[in-house]
Amino acid sequence: MKKFLDLGMQPLANKYLTKRDLLGKKKEQFYHLEVGFDKKTKLVSILNRVSSKKMFDNNYPYKSSMSKTMNSSFKKLSEKIIKIFKPRLFLEIGSNDGSLLRNFNKKRAIGVEPCKNLAIITSKKGYKTYSEYWDLKLAKKIKSKYKKVDLIYSANTLSHIYNLDKVFRSITHVLSDEGILIIEEPSLLECLKSIAYDQFYNEHIYVFSLLAIKNLIKKYNLKVFNIEQLSTHGGSIRYFIKRISNTKIKINNSVKRQLNKELTFKMDKFNTYINFKKKVELSKKKLVNLFNEIKKNNKKIIGYGSTAKSVTVLNYCKITREIVDFFVDTTPDKTKKYMPGTHIFIDKYNKNLLHKADYVFLGAWNFKEEIFKKEKNFIKKGGRFITHVPVPRII
Ligand code: TYD
Repeated sequence: MKKFLDLGMQPLANKYLTKRDLLGKKKEQFYHLEVGFDKKTKLVSILNRVSSKKMFDNNYPYKSSMSKTMNSSFKKLSEKIIKIFKPRLFLEIGSNDGSLLRNFNKKRAIGVEPCKNLAIITSKKGYKTYSEYWDLKLAKKIKSKYKKVDLIYSANTLSHIYNLDKVFRSITHVLSDEGILIIEEPSLLECLKSIAYDQFYNEHIYVFSLLAIKNLIKKYNLKVFNIEQLSTHGGSIRYFIKRISNTKIKINNSVKRQLNKELTFKMDKFNTYINFKKKVELSKKKLVNLFNEIKKNNKKIIGYGSTAKSVTVLNYCKITREIVDFFVDTTPDKTKKYMPGTHIFIDKYNKNLLHKADYVFLGAWNFKEEIFKKEKNFIKKGGRFITHVPVPRII
């Protein structure tokens, strides 16, 4: 891995602090967030790892069912999977709170979710959920109980697992010969294009490209046969994967198209990442200037969506409580707590809170459309949003 980006010292994202934490003696943990590129495998990865046990514990706050956008994306996907692939057994790695699984028949769908608080929610919905890390031991356990799985799906999970060889070895262990693997992950191409450096934080060990995925799965005799572009998480790709030995499925043109796009963008060259780094540094300068200008005029700024992504932005750009008064968020496990590192307060979302502000920083910029629709009145009354992607500006 050759380093190309330094995002400074960062706290653990998703470790929202209580008042007690702030007053307590235990120091908040920081790590150096650096990002590198592997010329051989084309993989882009953060360079310093935080142990999974520290990140994914029994109080993991992110719930995928909190967003309308994610729920409707999952609903559409499940309908498609059932119609096209008709799986006898569906397995989801990283099933979170069961927002996708709930669209499947309880007898034909199982989940894997190491965060106990989330696994319990899914189990209570009636779906068999293994509250364990995805590895060969678990794959063997599932195989001995169910024999084979026809469809394995994983969204925004593989990027959180350091040992990808272990992941794919375990997948090929349980996947039937004609089985399908679907992976959904933020697109590195979109991240580079929109200078979305906040896709990098301790949990996002990787941001994938098709170039890298192809190299990763080759060893396991797997092949990408279709690609879908998604608007979720600031631009994601859904990779449809089969065993090379399964010749019944033809390779869709979308795969070549994506590969060409990535090669045209020179994503196989280190220099592209150096250019990205320069743009990130410029983005920081512009955002800091924008915030300073607003504060000079004594205007009030609050944040909307206390995302893990915004933890990277706030800490990299050194945005303090003097600049952003507080955040609002709808996630109960995040509210009445404090943002990691900057200790900005997170209040429980209610429409009226927005009217206390002149400007609202979009922490959840990936839900811009959904949020703008919801906050029509605030915008009508002259309220303005600030975003840092693709360039820091007032919208
Ligand atoms: P997300 O971008 O999915 O996560 P991350 O960067 O942490 O991976 O998180 C979106 C956050 O925004 C989540 O905490 C919920 C919040 N949110 C609201 O508060 N209101 C909204 O209308 C939406 C769409 C999201």
